Amino acid sequence: MWAMIATWRMAVEGITKASEQLESGIDAGYAVETAVKMVEDYPFYKSVGYGGLPNENCEVELDAAYMDGDTLSIGAVASIKDYKNPVSIAKKLSEEKVNNFLVGIGAEDYAHKNGFERKNMLTDRAKLHYEKKKKETLDKGLNPYDGHDTVGIISLDKNGKMCVATSTSGLFMKKRGRIGDSALSGSGFYVDSEVGGATATGLGEDLMKGCISYEIVRLMKEGKHPQEACDIAVNNLDKELIKRRGKAGDLSLVAMNNKGEWGVATNIENFTFSVATSNLSPTVYIANRKDGKTTYEVASKEWMDAYESRIKAPIEI
Ligand code: GLY
Repeated sequence: MWAMIATWRMAVEGITKASEQLESGIDAGYAVETAVKMVEDYPFYKSVGYGGLPNENCEVELDAAYMDGDTLSIGAVASIKDYKNPVSIAKKLSEEKVNNFLVGIGAEDYAHKNGFERKNMLTDRAKLHYEKKKKETLDKGLNPYDGHDTVGIISLDKNGKMCVATSTSGLFMKKRGRIGDSALSGSGFYVDSEVGGATATGLGEDLMKGCISYEIVRLMKEGKHPQEACDIAVNNLDKELIKRRGKAGDLSLVAMNNKGEWGVATNIENFTFSVATSNLSPTVYIANRKDGKTTYEVASKEWMDAYESRIKAPIEI
């Protein structure tokens, strides 16, 4: 058996391609890298890789991570500019003995020395989004901090190996050098092939406060089903944040155990996620929370068509 689960609808093409690899017996690490790279390469996904939205200086600074659930090796890059596939750099870093998490110029030096492809990651479309947001923010005093959709993908291969990878451009209009949860082990991702994995999307500053991906894996290790583990962890963090701070940022998580069972939880409306297993062709679901429990349904064709039009719609400034 093999399986993959990913945050957001944007991962479905990637997990479709990676599914074929997993079906043919390919390693979970290779498959998860393939899937994340497809999201990074697609210019209309404005929160990951090429086409990702820039920081307040109009620079695209990217965060990515990779973890191997057999060895617990981790590699991560943060605030990296002008490299095509941050996830591949993170994966390569996971093979190093030390210096596994590099930021900014250090990450770029490493990528250059190891022959990774350079690319200007700022698209004309992302620049238009930037100009529009700047204008709206100046004109109307809007909060610029929205648009933070990390792709996080967990894979399980036929040998029982599990891996996880994340990639994001982080918060739109973030401060230069700001790093979210996606590159941080335990917050944006965690995986242990003896148990399972989890990965997050939402407001990094709040996801970090609960080390929420690790917390879900810990709950699964205690015997909880991934769905129960996700609901407990998201509800608890959401409640604690509201109790102590008056509000909670967006928190959405997916998880899978080493039997290929999966779960999802969110505190936002209409959180989408993508799943493929040896028994389920790649499917996009829409999740919502009701009375502390997550429910989900398959995204309809109308929803999928509307999504496609929305991400490609002209940007009016
Ligand atoms: N979850 C992505 C970020 O906060 O950067």
